[in-house]
Amino acid sequence: MNDRVCVFGAGSIGCYVGGRLAAGGAPVTLIGRERIGREIAEYGLHLTDWQGTRLDVASDGLRYATGPEAAADAGLVLITVKSADTDAAGTALASVLDDDTVVVSFQNGLGNAPQLKRHLTRQVVLAGMVPFNVVNRGRGAFHQGSEGTLEVERHSALAAFEPAFAAAGLPLAQQSDLRAVQWAKLLLNLNNSVNALSGLPLKEQLSMRDFRRCVSLAQEEALRLLDHASIRPARLTPLPPRWIPKLLCLPDWLFSRLANRMLAIDPLARSSMWEDLEAGRRTEVDWLNGEIVRLARTQGREAPVNTRLLALVRAAETGGERHWRGAALLAELRQAVAGGG
Ligand SMILES: NC(=O)c1ccc[n+]([C@@H]2O[C@H](COP(=O)([O-])OP(=O)(O)OC[C@H]3O[C@@H](n4cnc5c(N)ncnc54)[C@H](OP(=O)(O)O)[C@@H]3O)[C@@H](O)[C@H]2O)c1
Repeated sequence: MNDRVCVFGAGSIGCYVGGRLAAGGAPVTLIGRERIGREIAEYGLHLTDWQGTRLDVASDGLRYATGPEAAADAGLVLITVKSADTDAAGTALASVLDDDTVVVSFQNGLGNAPQLKRHLTRQVVLAGMVPFNVVNRGRGAFHQGSEGTLEVERHSALAAFEPAFAAAGLPLAQQSDLRAVQWAKLLLNLNNSVNALSGLPLKEQLSMRDFRRCVSLAQEEALRLLDHASIRPARLTPLPPRWIPKLLCLPDWLFSRLANRMLAIDPLARSSMWEDLEAGRRTEVDWLNGEIVRLARTQGREAPVNTRLLALVRAAETGGERHWRGAALLAELRQAVAGGG
């Protein structure tokens, strides 16, 4: 059996998950950009988590490569590029992977695994979900800032790799229906566009009721469409998905008391959508708010809040407003609901 795990997209999630697998003794190849490769060659990988775990992986503790050919000898390939790079990843890997290589998308949204399947027609391609956030602190240091278990679509081909994930302290939870989990994560990720448009750190943005009301509007709209499609999002947080929009609307003083877990975030942490805007990259908004807009279309309905957020983030990608005040963004979304565009 080929037990080598290849991570395609050595960024925050890729280096963290790949690094932990390597620390647990698995043979790992990371495929990523030269810049990250140079950092790992110089400093190695230093992985920490919110519970105080500290793991170091020396640069010779894994293989690092910049081209897709390095995936040729992998039994398992984890895709950890941002959604905008999924098609390119699929195209690059299609001519490289063996037919019996298993591919898992550890990306946000629901569209990436099907997108990969269109390129990797002979391989088993599975959807996965990373519930925790990881921050790249530079010089090979990656920090897992929140809790959660890796989830993946159930498949017999994963049995061979389960011990490696368990040894890494990142056990794989296999689900026969991952879509319920993916939808639940997507509901939480609807905050990303609001955060990106606020231009503020997450903690500060979530401490402001008007921004939370924006997220609440986007989530309520999504929940109505999910209801209509008979999709029940899984419960990933102490509160069921249905209660979160209500919690978000509470006055600041009450929210800060009841939602201390939601606010237990590094004061400087930002959403990756904000980081993408900052770096001039295409964001994942099409795979997040865009998914709600597509769900509405399949029902012959509309999703004005998510449509508006999608349009505002697209505008921000090309130089539009990136420092919305909470009251102005809320008014914009309410106007969209009222049919004012
Ligand atoms: N970060 C988190 O906390 C978190 C949590 C849960 C889920 N996720 C999801 O996980 C996925 C990955 O997120 P991330 O934050 O880890 O992204 P990231 O830090 O941007 O990592 C992706 C890396 O892949 C590189 N890359 C892209 N195309 C490549 C190619 N063809 N060859 C080699 N390298 C390539 C990117 O380089 P360039 O930037 O130079 O293109 C980047 O360094 C996303 O779907 C995200 O939503 C992230």
